[in-house]
Amino acid sequence: MVVSKDNGQESIDVESLESINVGIVGHIDHGKTTLLQQLTGKWTDTHSEELKRGITIKLGYADTIIKDDNDKALRYVSFVDAPGHEMLTATMLSGAAMIDAALLIIAANEGIKPQTREHLMALQARDIKNIIIVQNKIDLVEEHDAKRNYEDIKKFVKGTIAEKAPVIPCSAQQGVNIGKILDEILKFEIPKREPGNPLFVVARSFDVNKPGTKVDEIKGGVLGGALLKGEIKEGQEIEIKPGLSLKKENQLIYETVKCKVLGIFKGKYKIKKATPGGSLALETSLDPVITKSDNLSGCAAGLKNELPEISYNVKIKFSLFKEVYGLSGHEKVTNIKTPEMLLLSANTSITVGSVTKINNDVLEMNLKIPIVPFKNENVGIARNIDGHWRLIGWGEII
Ligand code: GTP
Ligand code: MG
Repeated sequence: MVVSKDNGQESIDVESLESINVGIVGHIDHGKTTLLQQLTGKWTDTHSEELKRGITIKLGYADTIIKDDNDKALRYVSFVDAPGHEMLTATMLSGAAMIDAALLIIAANEGIKPQTREHLMALQARDIKNIIIVQNKIDLVEEHDAKRNYEDIKKFVKGTIAEKAPVIPCSAQQGVNIGKILDEILKFEIPKREPGNPLFVVARSFDVNKPGTKVDEIKGGVLGGALLKGEIKEGQEIEIKPGLSLKKENQLIYETVKCKVLGIFKGKYKIKKATPGGSLALETSLDPVITKSDNLSGCAAGLKNELPEISYNVKIKFSLFKEVYGLSGHEKVTNIKTPEMLLLSANTSITVGSVTKINNDVLEMNLKIPIVPFKNENVGIARNIDGHWRLIGWGEII
């Protein structure tokens, strides 16, 4: 049996334990957050609006250490819980920028729904091969319906990146088959980690100080996110781009933020050096006013003077999906035309812009919020259809 709960043994060498980031995706209400709680013991829907409406709105984060029967730590797993609501596709895409693997949740009583399809296509576009399909809510269906749903799932994934993914029947609510899911997570192949200069993508940023903290006890601003490549060490000087947005002569401008990494946290563990894998929090020398309320989310952080210049113009080699997968009907994706507005998801950043040029499979856009353009970086492309952003294709920055 595999033990999921971290029993708080501080002797675990988290710095060298192999780590993987696992996204939890799927249609609204299919049980993603409930499953995450079973896997980690943590309920991540905590914002007042989430509690009121019973849905996930922001990305949720929770970690676990999977151990063997002898309590030996085998793998550090950081989960990113995505919202399933059709209005929150962009949030799901920023989550997808940080993951190496995914659990695709499908409620057996509802079957394949629009965001099941849209989220699977997002995984495929990002080339995430490590996938487990969780057939959830089996407590709500008769055996023959569960079998039929299983056949539907197999048909649905045929020819996609999830074709060979295991399908695990489960009841997240009743804790059925949670151990089996952990066993499958242990089988995920850890992606090759690129050495070299670090690239840290910021998904959230905060002020961790409680009101009334004494001045000499105030902690610096904290950045939460994932290291996509390289190594980051305590004490290093970093820069964050696009950085802070400031109003100058009625225009928004962006100012690169420079600071020092004062502490690196992986879950509750303080480490000296991080390599990719695991959600990280970097405590910095910044005034927490700069990082509070997700002020820097969507930014990229790297070594000083190593990040590309920010840009309001991008050139993308793209391909469109055959269908708008996020809709309940089967609607074809029509060609992109100038000057239509598109939403772009690049790493954890989300921006919109108008298409200024289009030539076969290359488009150029003028962006409202600048991005840090990394060559060959994967970007998601969404179009506004009846008031919702729907994923229509994918591309690569050239
Ligand atoms: P969003 O984040 O809004 O997309 O939803 P979600 O996929 O995170 O679903 P959530 O975990 O919030 O669960 C939605 C509802 O389904 C809750 O009322 C859960 O208690 C219920 N639920 C989750 N898993 C199961 C299950 O295995 N069986 C049954 N019967 N109910 C479940
Ligand atoms: Mg949820």
